[in-house]
Amino acid sequence: MPIETAQAVTASRVAHLQSQLAAKVADWTGPVTLEIGCGHGHFMAAYAAAHPDERCLAIDIIVDRLERAQRKTDRAGLTNVAFLRAEAGLFIDHLPAALQLQRVFVLFPDPWPKRRHHKNRLLQADFLHRLAERCNAYARLGFRTDHAPYFEEVVALLAEHPDWHLIDEPWRFEQATVFQNRAPAFQSCQAALRSRA
Ligand SMILES: C[S@@+](CC[C@H](N)C(=O)[O-])C[C@H]1O[C@@H](n2cnc3c(N)ncnc32)[C@H](O)[C@@H]1O
Repeated sequence: MPIETAQAVTASRVAHLQSQLAAKVADWTGPVTLEIGCGHGHFMAAYAAAHPDERCLAIDIIVDRLERAQRKTDRAGLTNVAFLRAEAGLFIDHLPAALQLQRVFVLFPDPWPKRRHHKNRLLQADFLHRLAERCNAYARLGFRTDHAPYFEEVVALLAEHPDWHLIDEPWRFEQATVFQNRAPAFQSCQAALRSRA
């Protein structure tokens, strides 16, 4: 794709994200809980219902699932959750400064099993750094997958990452996702920010 076209596509995606943020969470400030790649939204819909004091955002790149999830939570009268169509990297880089991530869930992200596709995996050192930059000091990252090699890669990444370290805490909230229900087995790990002092 020519550079000018790529720049125009990115600008249009940023504008779309900003219009969704303006429409749904313009008056939000402070800590938020984020699910990246929420799919059908089952986890975040249940999480938001169970945590009415938390403000919750869920993002995905597939719009029809998000619209269904938003309709469902609107019907349930939940005002503390918004589903946004956004690519994770673009979202992190354009999150309003008034919002700080306190809890981040990444549940069953696409594993990109072939070695030549590993570069497409969401959780990589640079993304984790950009994510950390948008978190507050109390932030927690929860990762769950049924793909053992991706799990091992993320554990190794977090163990050595300059911004994150692995922690041993109970998983904050259980609600099976569509992919969790299909998985014969899965593994979870959690991380906190390293002290910035
Ligand atoms: C394997 S599905 C898992 C969905 C859900 N978390 C679950 O457990 O059922 C991965 C999801 O991540 C979304 N996704 C993939 N890449 C993404 C990205 N860069 N930013 C946001 N969402 C993404 C896909 O559209 C898809 O819905």
